[in-house]
Amino acid sequence: MLEVKDLSKQYKDVLALNQVSFRLEEGIYALLGPNGSGKSTLMNLICGQLKATSGDILWNNHSIQKLGIQYYQLLGYAPQQQGLYEEMTGLRFLTYMALLKDIRQNEVKDEVQRVAGLVHMESHLYKKCRTYSGGMKQRILVAQALLGQPKLLLFDEPTAGLDPKERVSLRQVFQELSHTHILLIATHVVSDVESIAKEVIFLKQGEVVNQGSVDDLLQQYQKDFLEDVYLEVFGDDHDV
Ligand SMILES: Nc1ncnc2c1ncn2[C@@H]1O[C@H](COP(=O)(O)OP(=O)(O)OP(=O)(O)O)[C@@H](O)[C@H]1O
Ligand SMILES: [Mg+2]
Repeated sequence: MLEVKDLSKQYKDVLALNQVSFRLEEGIYALLGPNGSGKSTLMNLICGQLKATSGDILWNNHSIQKLGIQYYQLLGYAPQQQGLYEEMTGLRFLTYMALLKDIRQNEVKDEVQRVAGLVHMESHLYKKCRTYSGGMKQRILVAQALLGQPKLLLFDEPTAGLDPKERVSLRQVFQELSHTHILLIATHVVSDVESIAKEVIFLKQGEVVNQGSVDDLLQQYQKDFLEDVYLEVFGDDHDV
């Protein structure tokens, strides 16, 4: 179980997160909020790339700072920015990431093929990343997050730039993982998570303003679609 407790992050003059708290167990959690609401900041804190100004992040009641490497081994993260190694082939990139993740040398080859297969990139593995389309870059990023079957998966806008067929296929991958894994998915494509999310977390200007199952939220706001709930929650909110 991942627990975020009173988490705040102040960048120089911007309070990007203000006392955010929630708990995540197995299943898919959709993190929804407009540009600048703090989604990526929250993800970067959970994966340890950023340091919180205050508050705690606990994995099974232990601070992630104290767990260190143990925590990183159960974490998979696909960042929003595509910081790919442009001159590497997809195969080298995934192999390199597998080695960084300490996957046993004799298992690396199979594991790389497994994750490439999940995102339908097997036939593109021998091309350099710089020649990939936006959607292919996105898929290889998702693939590296799945290496080693980490328990906690963080995806920051994983479906951005994907064509409908790949969106649906990725949704199926997420759904399969959701029985045994914790997935936190930040997205602007509300329909990508509407049918698979166990809970939705609405983040507005760095604060959690509502959280619940899709059904509960639809009922609470008297709407038929999650996108309409989103508009109700964020209708008056413009870029900060
Ligand atoms: N490195 C940084 N230095 C200063 N301010 C930052 C930094 N990173 C983010 N911010 C600010 O923090 C706030 C939250 O940004 P964040 O990137 O977390 O939002 P987001 O919800 O991921 O947005 P988007 O939907 O556009 O990806 C914004 O006001 C942003 O300008
Ligand atoms: Mg972001």
